[in-house]
Amino acid sequence: MISVTRKSHFNAAHRLHNNNWSDEKNHEFYGLCNNKNYHGHNYDLEVTVSGEIDKESGYLIDMKYLSDLIDINVCNKFDHKNLNLDTEEFKDLIPTAENIAVVIWNILREKIDKKLNIKVKLFETERNSVEYSG
Ligand code: NI
Repeated sequence: MISVTRKSHFNAAHRLHNNNWSDEKNHEFYGLCNNKNYHGHNYDLEVTVSGEIDKESGYLIDMKYLSDLIDINVCNKFDHKNLNLDTEEFKDLIPTAENIAVVIWNILREKIDKKLNIKVKLFETERNSVEYSG
């Protein structure tokens, strides 16, 4: 089993707010992330693909293919967007780092050969990251 990792980056705004809770409870629970006029993050994304080396090419996956896939389907889609207002994915889903990582994993899972495993690591800040691997 071998892994390759591609790092990417996008900037996006969001607001953490649960519509089923009162404004007070949202403010108390999410703190600054509940700011009603949104706030931004510089998201760093690491996508790790694992599996067996292809005997013929010597690659696990073509990194150019992988980087284009991530750019087109993830970064271009979310970069400079307000996740709550501008994207279908987060219309009814709170755009926490956890949920963003799961959404990204689901997008990539559709596009990458099923014999390869995928792990998504999303850094919301330098110190806070989440990982999802299905
Ligand atoms: Ni935030």
